[in-house]
Amino acid sequence: MVPEPLTSIEGARQGVGKDERPFQVLLVDDEVAILESLELTLAEDYTVFAVDNGLDGLEILENEEIDLVIVDQVMPEMTGVEFLEKVIEIRPSCVRMMLTGYADINMVVRAINEGRIYRYIQKPWEPDELRLDVKRALEAYRLNAENAQLTAALAQANEQLRAENIYLRREVERQYAFDQIIGASPAMQRVFDVMEKVAQTDATVLLSGETGTGKDLVARAIHYAGERKEHRFVAQNCGALPDTLLESELFGHKRGAFTGAHQDKKGLFEVADGGTIFLDEVGETEPGMQVRLLRVLQDGEIRPLGSSDTRRVDVRIIAATNRDLRNEVKEGRFREDLYYRLRVVEVTIPPLRERREDIPTLAHHFLDITNERMGRNLAGFTNAAMDRLTAHAWSGNVRELENEIQRAIALAGDEETISESMLSEHLRAESPREPAGASPSLLKERDLNRAVDALKRSMIAHAIEEAGSKTRAAERLGIPRQSLQKMMKRLEMD
Ligand SMILES: Nc1ncnc2c1ncn2[C@@H]1O[C@H](COP(=O)(O)OP(=O)(O)OP(=O)(O)O)[C@@H](O)[C@H]1O
Ligand SMILES: [Mg+2]
Repeated sequence: MVPEPLTSIEGARQGVGKDERPFQVLLVDDEVAILESLELTLAEDYTVFAVDNGLDGLEILENEEIDLVIVDQVMPEMTGVEFLEKVIEIRPSCVRMMLTGYADINMVVRAINEGRIYRYIQKPWEPDELRLDVKRALEAYRLNAENAQLTAALAQANEQLRAENIYLRREVERQYAFDQIIGASPAMQRVFDVMEKVAQTDATVLLSGETGTGKDLVARAIHYAGERKEHRFVAQNCGALPDTLLESELFGHKRGAFTGAHQDKKGLFEVADGGTIFLDEVGETEPGMQVRLLRVLQDGEIRPLGSSDTRRVDVRIIAATNRDLRNEVKEGRFREDLYYRLRVVEVTIPPLRERREDIPTLAHHFLDITNERMGRNLAGFTNAAMDRLTAHAWSGNVRELENEIQRAIALAGDEETISESMLSEHLRAESPREPAGASPSLLKERDLNRAVDALKRSMIAHAIEEAGSKTRAAERLGIPRQSLQKMMKRLEMD
């Protein structure tokens, strides 16, 4: 049976714990007179439980949230120190105080030193002093508890942040994984082979390729497939800034290095320490910048603008250019030594028109992505539309194709597929339908079905023009009228 508290005055302000519950104090003493007097001293401020033996005391500890214990050292069944050992087991955070006579002092001091007792109260005690002692002890206790709670909350928040961070990083990694780069053509397969090998090394890579061929994508994929993926990938377009600004972006500056430099600033080489820096449009850099880049590549050192110290950095460099750098060297616009330092491994991404077999897969890839992004549900392309896409020259390469498909979807009404008429004017204006059977452009066409379709279109158009009606055109072409009609529908001819 759990003994009832002898007195309980709830809510006395100074005795209230941080969760608005009054502090609960347990008194254990075999001498009832002492017990009563202790209780009188404390009952005004706290909820007091008073018992005259250790066993009852333990039962209360098990069932009540006791914040502070005062126990007498000398009791018949269990000494105060033994009782407090149990308190430590049951409620480790509970404040422990001991009542003692003069004779027990040495033993109690040892218990205090060993951390088992918060403090001792020597008999006889001053009620006011005791009240103050208990109050201080409980304040410290509350602060401790709050601290522990805040520490736990902080640890939890940290853990959550860490989890989110890992999640976000996975997302980014997923986004730039090799399998997000489309390309079944032999030309792209060769690119992937080199990428895979080079990703496992720290070798400097030079990516070349026309605009929109995917240099950015490939640079990120190399970073995220390698050991440096836990560190930053930073990109800087070297063609976008005047020389001094670019220098400050890449290498940082000291305060006052130039007008407007109000504070020290870290350069991207330092930001990317341990990771990868992507120097886009490296062919656009001016001679001074080329010298500075050469120094990083040779010595792994940078010097912030306006500073006299150099700093070591551990950064993997991937550079990209849509110029023919070899030619730039020949023309004296690009340093030869820098060129050779950059092209330790050179990856050339072929223009889209040289890998037309990738166009249908890319088109469907962008259809899926854009459907999702725009909340649409277009199912695919008509044959004629796909013919147009595969035949186009794509001077803007994959980016232009991506834009074309986004445009078609954005402008689509309730169509279910992308048809020829939804493509932009300049695509439709080109003519794989030119009259004359085996035109030179047709002979270059590698896809047999498309070539045959184009030939059919041009023969049908001719026949109708010359014969004046579909019926007579069908006769000339040697096929039934209905077949002609079906064929024209499939070929999207009006
Ligand atoms: N093989 C590919 N598979 C899927 N998406 C691609 C592929 N190549 C390029 N893209 C997409 O095409 C767009 C252009 O690619 P990216 O920005 O990497 O080209 P770039 O070579 O860096 O062009 P620029 O020289 O103009 O900077 C991006 O949206 C990219 O995701
Ligand atoms: Mg780019």
